Amino acid sequence: MITIKTAEEIEKMKAGGKFLSAILARLMEACVPGAHTEELDRLAREEMAKVGGKPSFLHYQISDEDPPYPSAVCISVNEEIVHGLATPNRVIKEGDLVGLDIGMWYEGMATDMAATVCAGNVASEARKLSEDTRESLKRGLSVIKEGAWLHEISQAIENYLKPNRYGIIRDLCGHGVGYSVHEDPQIPNYHERRAKPVKLKAGMCLAIEPMVTLGDWRIRQKDDGWTYVTADRSLAAHWEVTIVVTGSGFEFVTPFPDKV
Ligand code: MF3
Ligand code: CO
Repeated sequence: MITIKTAEEIEKMKAGGKFLSAILARLMEACVPGAHTEELDRLAREEMAKVGGKPSFLHYQISDEDPPYPSAVCISVNEEIVHGLATPNRVIKEGDLVGLDIGMWYEGMATDMAATVCAGNVASEARKLSEDTRESLKRGLSVIKEGAWLHEISQAIENYLKPNRYGIIRDLCGHGVGYSVHEDPQIPNYHERRAKPVKLKAGMCLAIEPMVTLGDWRIRQKDDGWTYVTADRSLAAHWEVTIVVTGSGFEFVTPFPDKV
């Protein structure tokens, strides 16, 4: 079921989302060569506690068979696409392409966002992959308004990425968000013609999150039961924001971090 949030709930999400964006900007700053992923996770937990929020990914289970997610922030390095763990003793290296993905409960509402960071000097094609992924997200956002079709978002993202021959991850999608971490609808980053058409309505809160690779779109999951990597070990980038659909367009629930 696709839910519509009330004006009051949207205000709560926007308040939480603004905090979340500032927290992500802090993490991006701290994500430099030599940073310990465990430290980044601790920083995320501290910053969320400071604003009265709670990490929404910590102990999260996508299905009952999943092990509870052990971190507050997903840290996915290089060929890792999403859901990487903030493992102890893991250190960010010069040249790493690092996805940082965080979600927070604030006043009973969940928001979700992600950015990809270039740690130190990153190969130009990797940097471009991240920039193009972010731009594809912006293209997806640009078609949003009440009455538009959900697949127009997917199509706009795909259209922007296609000429570059990137791999667009097919098995993971954007999603509704707010009352829970993941809600209907699923939002693919390519036009899925078999999906039932969904018309956008004001008050829908959506997390849009293109996941893009320099190689193929096929994925594998690591033995940790969480981390998704590219099957061909090519580099991957991921950007995500939460928005609310309005009559004339959309509003950011989690604005892009101020540095991008
Ligand atoms: N932004 C991530 C997603 O939409 C949230 C992952 S929740 C986690 O898939 F628990 F798996 F980390
Ligand atoms: Co998400």
